[in-house]
This record gives sequence, C-alpha cells and structure tokens, in this order.
Amino acid sequence: MALMPETAAAMEGSARSLPADEAIAADAQALSEQLKSMRERLFPPAARKTLRGFTSGEAAKLVGVSDGYLRQLSIAGEGPQPEVGAGGRRHYSLTDINALRAHLAEQARAKGNAARARSYRAWRDPAKGEHLQVIAITNFKGGSGKTTSAVHLAQYLALTGHRVLAVDLDPQASLSALFGYQPELDLTANDTLYGAIRYDNEVRPLSSVIRKTYFDGLDLVPGNLELQEFEHTTPRALADRHNGGDAGPLFFARVERALASVADDYDVVVIDCPPQLGYLTLSALCASTSVIVTVHPQMLDVASMNQFLFMTSDLLGVVREAGGELNFDFLRYLVTRFEPNDGPQAQIVGFMRSLFGDRVLTSAMVKSTAISDAGLTKQTLYEIGRENFTRATYDRALESLNAVNGEITSLIHSAWGR
Ligand SMILES: Nc1ncnc2c1ncn2[C@@H]1O[C@H](COP(=O)(O)OP(=O)(O)OP(=O)(O)O)[C@@H](O)[C@H]1O
Ligand SMILES: [Mg+2]
Repeated sequence: MALMPETAAAMEGSARSLPADEAIAADAQALSEQLKSMRERLFPPAARKTLRGFTSGEAAKLVGVSDGYLRQLSIAGEGPQPEVGAGGRRHYSLTDINALRAHLAEQARAKGNAARARSYRAWRDPAKGEHLQVIAITNFKGGSGKTTSAVHLAQYLALTGHRVLAVDLDPQASLSALFGYQPELDLTANDTLYGAIRYDNEVRPLSSVIRKTYFDGLDLVPGNLELQEFEHTTPRALADRHNGGDAGPLFFARVERALASVADDYDVVVIDCPPQLGYLTLSALCASTSVIVTVHPQMLDVASMNQFLFMTSDLLGVVREAGGELNFDFLRYLVTRFEPNDGPQAQIVGFMRSLFGDRVLTSAMVKSTAISDAGLTKQTLYEIGRENFTRATYDRALESLNAVNGEITSLIHSAWGR
C-alpha cells in the first residue's frame, strides 16, 4: 500500500485544510478502498471460506465410535458415505459427520437405548428441562482473549454435535472477520444484532439477521460498527420512558427477548462481548445463563479485571433492582495466553486459584504461535491443518483448547442435569 511520498505529502496538505471530521472521513474512505482492493486480490469475491474434510480417524473420534466400526458402516453402505481420495483415504465433511450422528442416534433409539442415542447426538431436550445455554465471553480489558476463546468454543461445540449460534457483539467485529466477513463490505444496515434490539420501527426478527457459516450446525449473528448505535439510543429510550413514552422492553431485556425468539433452533449461544462495559455488554450479561471472564495473568490485567468486577457488580445490581433477572448457571475465569514457564504468570494464576477456587477453570489456554499464526490468516486451530506447524506446536495448542472447551462443555451438560 506504499503511497508515493508526493501523494502522501499532497494528502497531508489537503487534510490540513479540511475540518477534522472531513479529514478523518477522507482518510477512512481512502483506507476502505485500499482494504477492498487488497481483499479482492487475496480473496476473490467468489471465494468463500470452507471447512476442511476430516479423516475417517478424526470423524470416528468426533462421533464416538471406533475407526473400524466407521469403516464397517461405510462398506455396508450405511449412513453418509465418505469422499474417497488418493490412496483410498476416506474423508468426511462436518455435514456428513452430523448426518452420521443422526443415523446412529436413530438406530440406538429404535433399539430403545435412549442414553446411547444421546451420546451420539448432543442436542438438548427441552422436555427434560434442558434450557438454552447463553454464554457471554467477557472482560473489558482489550486483548484478553475474548474473541479467540469465543470462536474456538463455538466451533468446538459445533464439532461435538451441538447446534450453536455465535453472536458478535463487538462493533470491531473480529469474530465476524474470523468467519470470513469483512464487516464494512459484506454487511449493510440492520445486518447485526442491533437490527433485532433497536428501539425504533426498523426493528426486525433475529431469525432474519442470522447467517449460516461453513460449519454445519454453527450460525452467526455478525457485527459491525452499527452495534455502537445501541449505546446512543438506549439513554434516549430511557429518557423517553421517564417522560411517559413506551419503547417496549428496557435495554437489559432486549437481547434476551431476541434470543428467545430463536431458542428452539439452538443448544448453545456464544456471545463475544466488546472490550467495554456499556449497554451492549450489560444486555448480553442479562441474557446470559453463564459467563466466562477471560484473564491474561499479568498484574496490570488482573488489576483491570478487579475494576471490571466492581463495576459489573454495581451495574448488575442496578439492573436487578429494575427487575432484571440474573441467575447464572456458572461463572468461570479462564486464564488466557498462559505461559506456564513464566514465573510471575504462574504466581498470578496460583493467586487467582487461591482466591476464586473452582471458579477458575482447571485448564488454561496456553499461549501458542499456532493460535496467533492461524489468526493472521483469519483461521482458528480447528480449521487450519496440522501440516502448517511443527507437530509438537500444533498438538500442544490443540490439547489446551480441547481441554478448556471440554471443561466448558461439561459445565453446560451439568447445567442441563446430565
Ligand atoms: N492462546 C493464544 N496464543 C497466542 N496468541 C493468542 C492467544 N489468544 C489470543 N491470542 C492473540 O492475542 C490477540 C488478542 O486476542 P483476542 O482478539 O482474542 O482478544 P480480545 O479480548 O477479543 O480483544 P478485544 O478486546 O480487542 O476484543 C490476537 O491477536 C490473538 O491472535
Ligand atoms: Mg475481541
């Protein structure tokens, strides 16, 4: 994007003569055009993100059967058939894997084995009181690993057969970017959660905002800058209400109401919160059944988290007095970007564990170049192939992610009484 020095100088000259708002608008416009052409070069418009296929070994492990049994099924022509590649290697797509889960669950049910059917297919059973789990990933500290944790949790849950809705509540839209959306190009007005929680009559059903992703069973409510509107329109709606106007539910009930309208289609909602404690975050917390606070174990971050906890409890107290319901199935601290060999970090984690006990997840998300490098190409560790890294690096990062996400999945299942 190298500008000729003269061009830059000329722009500088002209920017100086403009009022600040117009100068910034001109810069934004120039940057947007550059980003657009860079993207068109890197990702041609027709190119959509796709999910890699899974080897039969991986598929068997995901479904919970042996590789041999999976081969037997395939030979017998039962269930979805894998794609057979060079050298007879069999590959399954996530859609195949989910079809296989449905097939095996159906078979088990036909034999009267409900427990086994459930082990193949993790869907919640509302008849048994298994309620939609809404998990907010939050902390107002920027860069504490919220988006990285949220995307890997959502994908892990989808890979393990849950129906997942990922909600990008951050106007910066990093989560949407990881799912292949460039917010300023791919989304127009009213394409985010804001469309479903706004106060005016442009409001639209959440179901019409939801987009499918290239992960079978994982849908997305994308985000962009428009979400920020909620921070400005809420004080106005509160003032209107004070003056006798009625704009429908109070801010803290709006996200909950929107999610309730699509609850039947999902088992878990994962909300990636913005790094600020505004109305969006508060509304997300009020809609949540569970909360994960991400913490990078450094003294400054922990001190900032302390402020976050004080402010959150104050604000939630106000919400509760106004009639908001706040009953969490679980609240957990997740240690992120952890370097176990770093003495001070280990000390801080020890300190948190002695203070908060079981509320600190046993597994931590280790710092790994595999995670940050995958992020550079807008990928997660669940998408990127093992061949891109040294095996030890990839395996160590994957093990850590699986341990964290497995622990959260157990918490979800125990909230369902399993
Ligand atoms: N376990 C990890 N190992 C290495 N890098 C990581 C790890 N987790 C996150 N990162 C990197 O740290 C940076 C910040 O992470 P992330 O975007 O998840 O934080 P965030 O809390 O969502 O930030 P924001 O507050 O801006 O929304 C990213 O560049 C990400 O790739
Ligand atoms: Mg983020």
